[in-house]
Amino acid sequence: MRTCDSIAAFRKARAGFKDIGLVPTMGFLHEGHLSLVRRAKAECGTVAVSIFVNPTQFNRTDDLEKYPRDLDRDLSLLAEAGADLVFSPSAEEMYPAGFDAAVQIGGVTEGLEGAARPGHFVGVATVVLKLLNIAQPTRAYFGQKDAQQAAVIRKMVRDLDVPVEIAVAATVREADGLAMSSRNVRLSPEARAAAPVLHRALLAGEALIKAGEKDAKTVRAAICAPIKAEPLAKIDYVSAADADTLKELDAVTGPALLSLAVFFGDVRLIDNLTVDPG
Ligand code: PAJ
Repeated sequence: MRTCDSIAAFRKARAGFKDIGLVPTMGFLHEGHLSLVRRAKAECGTVAVSIFVNPTQFNRTDDLEKYPRDLDRDLSLLAEAGADLVFSPSAEEMYPAGFDAAVQIGGVTEGLEGAARPGHFVGVATVVLKLLNIAQPTRAYFGQKDAQQAAVIRKMVRDLDVPVEIAVAATVREADGLAMSSRNVRLSPEARAAAPVLHRALLAGEALIKAGEKDAKTVRAAICAPIKAEPLAKIDYVSAADADTLKELDAVTGPALLSLAVFFGDVRLIDNLTVDPG
């Protein structure tokens, strides 16, 4: 496994391979990230992983400062998972003095995370486009855990004719249902014990839809109820949206994305489920 922290060195190392898969990450890797790396390895033969805590996608400085990092641990996990190339640039390498570009995707960026975190998706789209241009992968891998992010990347690739295939993989969860996230280590023991309520709440919404409920407001209320009953949890948003447009629904008549963002203290967690009422 070869690790590079400059764009020039990474490009040179990448040139030794034909088709590669790319897994963009912000590090502090867990089984969710590693599932993407293993899939990329199996499908592409060669896999590159980027580790870059992208400052431009953080809308809160405390969240950026407290974002967990451990490059040595990440590198040993990646070697074990079969990664061939690792790109771990500094912020100065990615955004040198004079950097002045921004990729703005419309439509799917408007609600949910886009509404709750102003500027977030401009930061994500800009850094992902840079990473795709630097690595030139055949296929790039993203997680359904960040469903709106995956939709934004798909839209960017389509609208800007970026020559890459986008693969989206299922959310990997802890045994108690909590979606794996690098931020989970920042939860207090009490908040960690309470956090599986998020997945339970989404399952309650799913069960209601499967039982024939069409009213999206009733579905949102059913998701909110168990979270509101948890004193450590504070809801940022709960949504039942069209799975394609990500617009909030009045009636659930086709595939829906049930999603939420909830604070436990200063740690903000997101999760989602897609439901097809059939
Ligand atoms: P990060 O949060 O590190 O996630 C990297 C990739 O892993 C994303 O595609 C994310 O959706 C996926 N992922 C995270 N948790 C997962 C889980 N529990 N199961 C499956 N996949 C999971 O997302 C980012 O970084 C950044 O925004 C990035 C795309 C790297 C741009 O900076």
